[in-house]
Amino acid sequence: MNSITIGVIGAGLIGRKHLRKLAERSDYDLVGIADVNLDQVAAEYPNTRVFADYRQLLDEARPKAVIIASPNQLHAGTGIECARRGIDILIEKPVTDTLESAAILLAEVRKHGIKSLVGHHRRHHLQVRTLKSLLGEGRIGDIVGVSAIWATHKPQSYFEVAPWRSQAGGGPVLINLIHEIDFLRFTIGEIRAVEAIASNRRRGFAVEDTAAALIEFDNGALGTFFISDSAVTPWTMEQGLGEAVEFPFSGQGSYRLMGRRGALEFPNLVQWAQADGAQDWNQPIQAQHIHAGTIDPYVAQLDHFRDVISGTAPSLQPVEDGARSLIATLAIAEAATAGRRIDLRDRYAALGSAASP
Ligand SMILES: NC(=O)c1ccc[n+]([C@@H]2O[C@H](COP(=O)([O-])OP(=O)(O)OC[C@H]3O[C@@H](n4cnc5c(N)ncnc54)[C@H](O)[C@@H]3O)[C@@H](O)[C@H]2O)c1
Repeated sequence: MNSITIGVIGAGLIGRKHLRKLAERSDYDLVGIADVNLDQVAAEYPNTRVFADYRQLLDEARPKAVIIASPNQLHAGTGIECARRGIDILIEKPVTDTLESAAILLAEVRKHGIKSLVGHHRRHHLQVRTLKSLLGEGRIGDIVGVSAIWATHKPQSYFEVAPWRSQAGGGPVLINLIHEIDFLRFTIGEIRAVEAIASNRRRGFAVEDTAAALIEFDNGALGTFFISDSAVTPWTMEQGLGEAVEFPFSGQGSYRLMGRRGALEFPNLVQWAQADGAQDWNQPIQAQHIHAGTIDPYVAQLDHFRDVISGTAPSLQPVEDGARSLIATLAIAEAATAGRRIDLRDRYAALGSAASP
C-alpha cells in the first residue's frame, strides 16, 4: 500500500507528539502542518510545509487524512471543513467541546462518509485490552461497581503556556476525566446516568480543579470517581501505566473493579478471588498478578488509523462514540453545577438522529 498523505493541525503538546511518531514511519507521508503560531512552528519543522490557516493545508497540500490537535473549541469547525473535503480525521479528544457542535460534526461526517477515529489513545494499550478481555471472559463475574481516582498536581506553567486550559471547556473534567470516562465506557459498559460535585477552591480558575462523580452503568454497575489537578498522588492512569516519560511510572492501581466473583485492580492488573469461586466474606482472598505487555498507545493508534483509512479495520472509536464519551463527561460538569442526577439516554438518542444543519 502507498503511504498515506497526512497533515497535522495544531503543533502544540500533543500535535508535536504525533509529529514525532509520524517522523519514524514509512506508512504515512507528512505533507503539511497548520498552526497559527506560524513562524515558530516553521522554524522547528524546516523540511515541512507549514500553514497558518489549516484550510490552506487542506486545499494546497491536499492530505488524505489529518490529525486534529488544536484546542478543544476548534475541533468541530475543523472536522466539518475536513468532512466537506472528504478528508479522514484522527480527532483529538474531546471530540468537540459541546453537545451541539458534536451533533453537527457527526451529521457532516455521516453526510460525507469520511472515516473518523477519536484520539482516546487509552483504548490502544495492551493493559486496557487485557482488562477488557478478562472482564469479557467473566474473571470477576458480573461487575458490581468501580472506585476510581485520577489525581495529580499540574505545574503552574501548564496553564501559563496555554491560557485556554484555565477557561471554560479547558478544565480537568474535559481534558482529563474524559479519558477515564471513555475507558470506563470501553471496559465496563455504557454509562446511563451521573451525579457530581466540583470545586475550584485550590486554583481559583473559572473551571474546576477538583470533582467527584457518581456513575450508573446500563448493566447495573455503580461507580465513584475522584479527579483533581491540584493534589500530589501516584494515582493516575498515566503514572500507573508508565505510558509516557513525562509522567514518571508509579505502577500503582488507580481503579478497583468489583465483581460478584472477585475484583481487579488496574492498571497494575491484580486479580483478587477466593478459592474454588467462593463468595464468602469468611473465606481468605488471594491476589494473582496478571502480566500484560507494554506498547506505545500513540503508535498503536496510528497503526489502527492507517487500517481504518485503508478500510481493513472498522474504527475503534468513530465520532459518534467519541460524542457519547463527551456527553457523559459534560453531564458530570453539568450535574455538579445543577446539583442533580442526569440521565443520558435521551442525549445519546438525539445523536442518533443528528442531521446536517
Ligand atoms: N490524547 C492525548 O493524550 C492528548 C494529550 C494532550 C492534549 N490532547 C488534546 O489535544 C488538543 C490540543 O491540546 P494541547 O495540550 O496539545 O494544546 P496546546 O495548546 O499545547 O496546542 C494547541 C496548538 O494548536 C494551535 N492552534 C490554535 N489555534 C489554531 C488554529 N486555528 N489552527 C491551527 N492551529 C491552532 C496552537 O498554536 C497550539 O500550537 C486538545 O483537544 C487536548 O484535549 C490530547
